[in-house]
Amino acid sequence: MIGVVLGLQYGDQGKGKFVDYLLKDYDVSIRFNGANNAGHSVEVGNKKYAVHLMPSGIFRNKQCLVANECVLDPIAFCEEIDYIKQNGFDDSKIKIGSRVSLICPFHKHVDEYFEQTSEVKLGTTRRGVGHAYADKMRRFALRMQDCLLTKQQINTKYINCLQANENNMFKNDFENWKNEFDLFFNCLMRLKQYMCDVTDCFHKYIKQNKNILFQGAQSTQLDLTWGEYPFVTSSSCLAQNAMLSVGFRFNFDKVYGVFKVYTTRVGTGPFVTAMDEQWDNKTREIGKEYGVTTGRPRKCGWLDLIALKRSCLLNGVTDLCMVKSDVFDGYPLVHACTGYYNGQKVIEHYPYTSEFEELQPVYSTFLGWENYKDKNLDNFISFIQSYTNVNVKYLSYSPNREDVLER
Ligand code: IMP
Ligand code: MG
Repeated sequence: MIGVVLGLQYGDQGKGKFVDYLLKDYDVSIRFNGANNAGHSVEVGNKKYAVHLMPSGIFRNKQCLVANECVLDPIAFCEEIDYIKQNGFDDSKIKIGSRVSLICPFHKHVDEYFEQTSEVKLGTTRRGVGHAYADKMRRFALRMQDCLLTKQQINTKYINCLQANENNMFKNDFENWKNEFDLFFNCLMRLKQYMCDVTDCFHKYIKQNKNILFQGAQSTQLDLTWGEYPFVTSSSCLAQNAMLSVGFRFNFDKVYGVFKVYTTRVGTGPFVTAMDEQWDNKTREIGKEYGVTTGRPRKCGWLDLIALKRSCLLNGVTDLCMVKSDVFDGYPLVHACTGYYNGQKVIEHYPYTSEFEELQPVYSTFLGWENYKDKNLDNFISFIQSYTNVNVKYLSYSPNREDVLER
């Protein structure tokens, strides 16, 4: 069985918890895109863990793989390995694809510079992810398998990549950035023991009939091509990219699409269903909507069903997983966007990015619920199902690992 878990909104839907929940039926846990710009949190017992690039399977002692469409920061990943080891989890379960491109320390600095000085601020996580992907495309990047080269050879590639990023803006810092090589190199050497050939590994899992669960990062509305460009991340977040990341064409048995009963957004870009201040503040506090990676407060909005339906189509979602219904417990009314008003007429299709600025949401309004057993919540879910044509198979109504209702 091969499954994939995806976020259908702007990230932070609680994929971490879901992947953890679903992994009870899977043997292998694979991250297929992005890097440590993501943050996945899982509550085990009464302890909360947060990881960034590490596949969630580490908390269930499953085989874990960081596949080839990811980019990896060796310094940050060593910190994650230390973190999971300190908490008693087994690092021998980790594998890293040999074709994974590397984030160098200077990619973070360049990300920071561009965020500070650009006219259009993307609100990136400043982890250097976009610049590392850019260097992969420009063919300057170092890759995981470069760990097999000599220190001198690696340094030559490092300097070559650094020089490709040269810019008058940060000329003065350039010499300092060269000095960060040693830390980068030492961490890369430490990661050598985890490197694998993804083709060999994946074919072995298939041959052994293992159950494999892929886990996406960021989310469909942040996808490089299908999100609101340029306010997007720099990798493909769609289910299809899981196949590229392991170099194998297969059919998914399950495509789990995770969404919150509301929407949140960090970073910049259009946000048609943003709540007014009172509900925005209330939802952020109850839902603890602060970034796992950056600590930034997330803006809260009502559920956008037009966007949700499109995300289901883009990924071929088979099972919807609705999370955080408890955040709305006791809300008198709940809204969901089922149209956009452009000043003249209501449109029901997904708009072009340039149209977004002008749009006002058109809401369908529902009676609120007291708890997850309330029939008002059932009504809301039924509406979502008929709107998207996909069943809401799972409902998560608290942060605890076990509190998932299978419907
Ligand atoms: P980057 O991925 O750091 O380049 O940031 C690009 C955009 O994606 C920004 O709007 C970020 O806030 C957003 N982003 C990246 N990773 C996540 C995530 O894990 N959750 C939510 N937003 C994210
Ligand atoms: Mg997150």
